[in-house]
Amino acid sequence: MLKGKRILLGITGSIAAYKTVFLVRLLVIAGAEVRVIITPSAKDFVSTLTLATLSKNKVLVDLADEDTWANHVMLGRWADVMLIAPLSCNSLSKLANGICDNLLMAAYLSATCPVIVAPAMDEDMWHHRSTIKNIETLKEFGHTTITVGTGELASGLFGEGRMAEPKDIVTFLEEKFFRSELLKGKSVLVTAGPTLEAIDPVRFIGNHSSGKMGIALAEAFYTLGADVKLVCGPIKNTVCYEGIEVLKITSAAEMYDVCISVFPSINIAVLAAAVADYTPRIVSENKIKKNEKIFQLELIKTKDILQTLGTVKREDQILVGFALETNNELENAIRKLETKNADLIVLNSLNDEFAGFEKDTNKVTVLDRNGSSFPFEAKSKKLVAIDIVDLIIKKLNDKV
Ligand code: CTP
Repeated sequence: MLKGKRILLGITGSIAAYKTVFLVRLLVIAGAEVRVIITPSAKDFVSTLTLATLSKNKVLVDLADEDTWANHVMLGRWADVMLIAPLSCNSLSKLANGICDNLLMAAYLSATCPVIVAPAMDEDMWHHRSTIKNIETLKEFGHTTITVGTGELASGLFGEGRMAEPKDIVTFLEEKFFRSELLKGKSVLVTAGPTLEAIDPVRFIGNHSSGKMGIALAEAFYTLGADVKLVCGPIKNTVCYEGIEVLKITSAAEMYDVCISVFPSINIAVLAAAVADYTPRIVSENKIKKNEKIFQLELIKTKDILQTLGTVKREDQILVGFALETNNELENAIRKLETKNADLIVLNSLNDEFAGFEKDTNKVTVLDRNGSSFPFEAKSKKLVAIDIVDLIIKKLNDKV
């Protein structure tokens, strides 16, 4: 998590500098403290006033400004990380060769914190042997390079050399640099999304689950250091951290098999998927033709994953289920908590304007096996996930 992290952002002269406006905004939203140093040539590409407004700090350009001297040594000591984005070909060469001709280079040369660079240049420059050598030198210095992207370049050509997108840079920082160790060594299973039950090779029975809540939970556990397995049905949304192991399934039976096989090695399982309760008894080998006026489909019950895990659950394992209800919400949720032997049930109601499929918000009440209940305000699914994970951590601590 980036909350409270101090990021010294160095911006050099490249057209990609305009993207730093979004980068600073995303870093600040994520809770980071941001201070910006910009090279004189980068000022042509992005306004210092915009950057100062967004970062809530004066943007530094020169070593001396009228009667004040910018303390480049302290800037490098203040920061938890120095991020140079975009890093132009020219500034890359200066970093690799220790050339100290502006404030950014002085701050870099005196920085004691880790350094990350996000290069941006045209494809031919990126592939030049001199650039390859300079990137190699930064690696030898112990710095990290965020790989360039492929796409349209300032030259109008298409190819490699684009600065990584701001959201990917933020994800990189969250995942590679500031991942907490609170849940290190813990294995977490999260299920998400719908399951699709085949009727014939063309059709299926499904539901509207977007998987957003399950993804938010998997990401929250991951940022706290857990090993996370996300078993998910077909969804268009994706996790933002590479380190989350995504196990894709289609049907309820496939989700059941994966969950049963991984559960013995799991410490915490949160089943947020909208699993089909019924599946066609027979899947037609060929596409069903519309010959009949009334067509009847015979459905059989799927196996209940949560209930099965509840019967094999060990004392040291935490099992959490969801209950999405439309009526008699509390009563139904309590019944599920008990019959499925879960430690916690997260209740959300489709009658609530903030809850439901595809929404980015949710409003939940978490019910504990010991009788307590925790109602939460409506908030983004990301924040709801953090509330649920906090309760699970308390529960885990109670068990040890
Ligand atoms: N669940 C499951 N396997 C199933 C059905 C549901 O693991 N075959 C899990 C869900 O992932 C959720 C919880 O059970 O964590 C409750 O799911 P829900 O659909 O709300 O309830 P059901 O038990 O299916 O009961 P009903 O549809 O009658 O409300």
